[in-house]
Amino acid sequence: MIASLLGAVTMLLVFAAATPARAESPQNLYTLNCWGCHRANGEGVAGTAPPLINAADFLRVAGGREYLIRVPGVSQSMLDDADTAVVMNWVLETFSKGRVPADFRPFSAAEIHHARTEPHLYDITEIRTQLLRKMVAMKIRSSPADATVHPGLSSGGTPPIDE
Ligand code: HEC
Repeated sequence: MIASLLGAVTMLLVFAAATPARAESPQNLYTLNCWGCHRANGEGVAGTAPPLINAADFLRVAGGREYLIRVPGVSQSMLDDADTAVVMNWVLETFSKGRVPADFRPFSAAEIHHARTEPHLYDITEIRTQLLRKMVAMKIRSSPADATVHPGLSSGGTPPIDE
């Protein structure tokens, strides 16, 4: 009895392994690849990863769209281009409710692919700070110092990423 039960379970496992993988839902892609640092509700982990809540604000400043997909967590994720685009669009829709610009074009696999061919961002903290300052200048945010990995603003003169 137990042996036949085990046999049936084994058959099921073999069958499951042989069945082509179904595409993961965007939420599962997020949970498996991003949750560890950005947490369930995109709240982030102080000192480790910034919140993704209202990350759509980056779309409103020059260079911000590109920045969003060139951070290492995205550009160097284990996901293929299509799944990376899916999870990024889900992140924006889910954690930036009411703040995604009306003219936002969802990220495409081709755009992710292109971003991955660009050289790595050499000073991501500085670029991020510059983008947050632009948001303050445009009154999109009231302060560049949100609860991020890198509190304290550096005073370096690195220019923002090219548009
Ligand atoms: C190992 C931790 C880690 C993982 C895993 C990770 N990220 Fe991040 N993420 C960061 C850090 C740290 C930053 C801030 C920029 C930097 O210093 O790299 C960031 C920045 C971002 C940003 C820009 C927002 C901002 O405020 O700077 C987005 C969007 C983002 N991550 C999305 C994702 C997505 C989507 C995934 C999963 C595919 C992911 N991240 C996986 C650590 C991580």
